[in-house]
Amino acid sequence: IERKIAIAIDGPAAAGKSTVAKIVAEKLSYIYIDTGAMYRAITLKALTHGVELNDEKAILELLLHTDIELSQKENKQIVLLDGEDVTEEIRTQKVTNNVSSIAKLASVRKEMVIRQQALAESRGVVMDGRDIGTHVLPDSEVKIFLIASVEERAKRRYEENIRRGIDSNLEELKEEIKTRDEIDSKREASPLIKAEDAIEVDTTSLSINEVVQQILNAVSNFLKKDKARRG
Ligand code: CDP
Ligand code: CDP
Repeated sequence: IERKIAIAIDGPAAAGKSTVAKIVAEKLSYIYIDTGAMYRAITLKALTHGVELNDEKAILELLLHTDIELSQKENKQIVLLDGEDVTEEIRTQKVTNNVSSIAKLASVRKEMVIRQQALAESRGVVMDGRDIGTHVLPDSEVKIFLIASVEERAKRRYEENIRRGIDSNLEELKEEIKTRDEIDSKREASPLIKAEDAIEVDTTSLSINEVVQQILNAVSNFLKKDKARRG
């Protein structure tokens, strides 16, 4: 039996993290955990309840009374917020535009990290986010840092929106992505940064399959070395 490991996938917005993480998890029969969805879910709840997004105490209090569940329904990832399916709602532009304000609150991150670590306890996990390799699972066996030019990332989101039947503006998407990356990278609490031991993959001119293949190669390299080490 092959050893089950943890794979951390971090990087800026729309670099392709969740798309490739899902495929890698399927191929390895691992579970996939989308940590961004958790920050999006609490953001949606705060917006719905009219809680000030910069009121750290109030947001933490809200989070402590919030159940966020990531589950699987007919091969589709679904997100349950206090039992309600919010899979689509957490992807709206309104949530996207506000999520980084909540994600920079240190006490909120602390609580999220506790929950995320608990979800990954059993290994055999692919987790994507911003701080997985550096803070959530610093001991993950394989760490990947995905990047791509901001033009390419905006284009990908734009095309994704078309597929979802949503009208959007390429320039606006580019600005939104830049703003979010800036907040995520400059915050004090576990900012978006490449872990020292992460493998950086520039996906600007790579297909989804090529990125998946690079990650699977990194996994099999690790497993080979690990096997040799164990004898
Ligand atoms: O998919 P996309 O890149 O648009 O974003 P996401 O992965 O759903 O994450 C949404 C936001 O949540 C990010 O812009 C970060 O502000 C925050 N986030 C975070 O701070 N830490 C994580 N581990 C995951 C997401
Ligand atoms: O999770 P993250 O925000 O990093 O990215 P995503 O939600 O996976 O979105 C990336 C979008 O770019 C998706 O629509 C993918 O189909 C597309 N894409 C990709 O992920 N990777 C490539 N190498 C090329 C396109």
